[in-house]
Amino acid sequence: MDLTTDCMGLKLATPLVVGAGPLGSELSGLRRIEDSGGAAVVLWSLFEEQISHDQDELDFYLQYGTERFPESLTYFPRSPEYHTGPEEYLNYISDAKKAVDIPIIASLNGFSSGGWISMAKQMQQAGADALELNIYFLATNPDITSQQVEQAYIDALLAVRRNVTVPVAIKLSPFFSAFASLARKLSEAGADGLVLFNRFLQPDIDLAELEVRPRLVLSNPAESRLPMRWVGILYGATKSSLIASSGLHSGQDVAKMILAGADAVQVCSILLKEGIEHLKTLRAELEEFMLLKQYDSLSQMKGVMSSRTLSEPAAFERANYMKTLSSFGRTMTFE
Ligand SMILES: Cc1cc2nc3c(=O)[nH]c(=O)nc-3n(C[C@H](O)[C@H](O)[C@H](O)COP(=O)(O)O)c2cc1C
Repeated sequence: MDLTTDCMGLKLATPLVVGAGPLGSELSGLRRIEDSGGAAVVLWSLFEEQISHDQDELDFYLQYGTERFPESLTYFPRSPEYHTGPEEYLNYISDAKKAVDIPIIASLNGFSSGGWISMAKQMQQAGADALELNIYFLATNPDITSQQVEQAYIDALLAVRRNVTVPVAIKLSPFFSAFASLARKLSEAGADGLVLFNRFLQPDIDLAELEVRPRLVLSNPAESRLPMRWVGILYGATKSSLIASSGLHSGQDVAKMILAGADAVQVCSILLKEGIEHLKTLRAELEEFMLLKQYDSLSQMKGVMSSRTLSEPAAFERANYMKTLSSFGRTMTFE
């Protein structure tokens, strides 16, 4: 069975990419990812604040969640290296390249077009096979318009594009008023891949301490519906590769994304919960589905259920909203 896929010009052995985070932060983890059938790894993000040497506290990624998922403790790097500065990050890229053969994707998280953009060039020089930009910006200032926000995303991408020749993916949030238009503009500005979607950590109020605290909650499979819908809508509409992310927990979830039109998927939460070796289960479940439906290759099934190919494209657009709501209580089952 042929699971190979072309994603941003990278030839991947399977569509299973390990998403940015702690899973790829140790060389032993990278080897386990490769041995378990992970086709590429996105390293944790180097944050703009780390590049500008601002000692911002980024501890929330490390401190929250570990105690909630004891089985995942081994996958959370507890060493301070996870919070590396630029130099250590670059060294890690070259060590990672020596440790495994699968593509290593470096990740930059920021917003302003300052030092982190020149960092992109150094990441490529260190051996990164591709870059992923995670542009984190919450437009809380009412004087900033949606057009300005979108333009800032495009400018940041263009600036990175000018500095590197390796593929560049941009990891986006779904919170844009005209997402299809932005996706097309980013594609035209040179985004080789669109990662749909980033998952924001929402702060919570601690009632005992009366403090607002960051809180890491791992994803659940229902969250994959939003990226699946947008993959289905965007398939064939841009030349960027579509990389689905958020809530993919099973091989069936992966199959749905490929049918909707994804070129690859990223997984993170489920591997933190079940362990890196769960990649083997994802692969086996995907193959089982393909066998059942008589697909010999991933390319045969890619986009078969996209809005371009469905006889009823409205299924993705308004998701048969009225019909679904009016069927409530009669035929519909709900979770
Ligand atoms: C512990 C943890 C650390 C993460 N670190 C990063 C990061 O450094 N950069 C980034 O872009 N995304 C980061 N993410 C987000 C994941 O890459 C992914 O987009 C998100 O968790 C949704 O995928 P999932 O449902 O498979 O977890 C992190 C997620 C978790 C759970």
